[in-house]
Amino acid sequence: MKLLVLNGPNLNFLGIREPEIYGRATYADLVRLIESYAAQNGFSVECFQSNHEGDLVDKIQQAYGHFDGIIFNPAAYTHTSVAIADAVKAVGLPTVEVHISDTTKREAFRQVSYVRAACVATVQGLGFDGYLKAADILREILK
Ligand code: DQA
Repeated sequence: MKLLVLNGPNLNFLGIREPEIYGRATYADLVRLIESYAAQNGFSVECFQSNHEGDLVDKIQQAYGHFDGIIFNPAAYTHTSVAIADAVKAVGLPTVEVHISDTTKREAFRQVSYVRAACVATVQGLGFDGYLKAADILREILK
């Protein structure tokens, strides 16, 4: 199993941005956690973060034929981007939507997710462990 782990805007600022919501651990800590979980569980991962909508769309398109599934935290683009939702639908790869925080308990504008309809599951409010749960969900689906 080969998974692409995509993170959207401002997630490179984990550890700095709003630590009361997202915690003190950094993006590098997140990548280390995911890579070690992958090594322990016998699958491979590539992690990619971008602040740019088009770069995320390009990366999703490039995943076609190269990855078995996607773990995706689109961050703020969750709530705004039809282009990202369309890209996930276009490639047809099983994709799990992940949010570190529980968006259901936050502002009204976070209650909309354009990408959700293109995803096989949503995991939110579990902190970094949500990415590991997403990997477990994809492993079940892909086996
Ligand atoms: C987030 C939630 C989004 O609403 C927000 O814009 C983010 C991070 C999360 O992981 O909790 O940047 O996706």
